[in-house]
Amino acid sequence: MAKVYYDMDANLKVLSGKTVAVIGYGSQGHAHAQNLKESGVTVIVALHEGSKSRETARNDGFEVFSPAEAAKRADIIMFLVPDHIQADVYNREVAPNMKEDAVLAFAHGFAVHFGQVTPSKKNDVFMIAPKGPGHIVRRMYEEGKGVPALVAVYQNASGRAMEIALAYGVGIGAGRAGILETTFKEETESDLFGEQAVLCGGLCELIKAGFYTLVEAGYQPEVAYFECLHEVKLIVDLIFEGGLSWMRYSVSDTAKYGDAVSGRRVIDDAARANMRKILSEIQDGTFAKDWILENRAGRPRMKKWVAAERDQLIESVGRDLRSMMPWLAKKEAPEY
Ligand SMILES: NC(=O)c1ccc[n+]([C@@H]2O[C@H](COP(=O)([O-])OP(=O)(O)OC[C@H]3O[C@@H](n4cnc5c(N)ncnc54)[C@H](OP(=O)(O)O)[C@@H]3O)[C@@H](O)[C@H]2O)c1
Repeated sequence: MAKVYYDMDANLKVLSGKTVAVIGYGSQGHAHAQNLKESGVTVIVALHEGSKSRETARNDGFEVFSPAEAAKRADIIMFLVPDHIQADVYNREVAPNMKEDAVLAFAHGFAVHFGQVTPSKKNDVFMIAPKGPGHIVRRMYEEGKGVPALVAVYQNASGRAMEIALAYGVGIGAGRAGILETTFKEETESDLFGEQAVLCGGLCELIKAGFYTLVEAGYQPEVAYFECLHEVKLIVDLIFEGGLSWMRYSVSDTAKYGDAVSGRRVIDDAARANMRKILSEIQDGTFAKDWILENRAGRPRMKKWVAAERDQLIESVGRDLRSMMPWLAKKEAPEY
């Protein structure tokens, strides 16, 4: 079982007299910076020239610097820029300017675990990875609650890296919910696997496969959309609230029996073998290398895939059906 830390296991005073530089002011950045500040920690924000987040951070009361300038001033440097640019920001701006004994912090292990960022042995390196998006991390803190987080220490140069990491976690409110100990390896590999095999890749392809199976068999696309996409939320909400057993208790007996006899025919031995292959390609670095090269080339494969996915029947049918549901806020993804 994972070791779990709470507020009482950490001492926020560990951060007093220290300056935390939060690099990036997006989903996680705005939440970490504001929560830490309200916990009494000195925080500065670092953003690149021309960043659209600069004004927001200033309006929220922060001094904003370039990453290079912030690195000179900071004792703890938290990287909350997108994972694929962390190495560039570290190598070009942070490493040449940071204090020799500065502490490096991350909210996801990708850059460190896959050797994109290679800190000097003189630095403590830790991770506090909230298990929720930034706006929830912020909202829960404001409500006196917290979002659980993972903590890991990659390097413990000072001998106090875990103490500092836990103080940081408590400062963003995670100690109110629970901070689970892990490693950079475990967090990074399991996070990539989860999003590829289940949460994003697996779920979207399951929905599409179900939708097109019905449409190709002559069922109306609108009906197929309701059955294979719209209702996913109802089921996931039940699973989220009380696990698989609560969902199965809540659905009809017919649905339960269908689950029993058909679920394992969809996710069969071949699908499980594919999952193991995906995991091994994450573990041996094949995926990380591929993603880094894709970024360097300007994301040609991803752009092509995004365009093809946007242009699908399931998307246009969904747009029309959602316009009939006035309780849904209209969401149209911008170009990405
Ligand atoms: N989002 C989540 O739910 C979540 C959960 C747990 C962990 N994480 C981890 O948290 C980290 C940050 O992710 P995020 O989702 O918060 O990112 P995000 O919302 O995309 O925000 C990125 C921020 O970095 C800024 N930025 C971009 N390039 C920069 C540069 N060269 N120098 C300085 N700032 C730069 C962006 O500025 P602009 O606004 O100008 O683009 C933006 O403010 C990642 O390691 C991610 O894996 C995220």
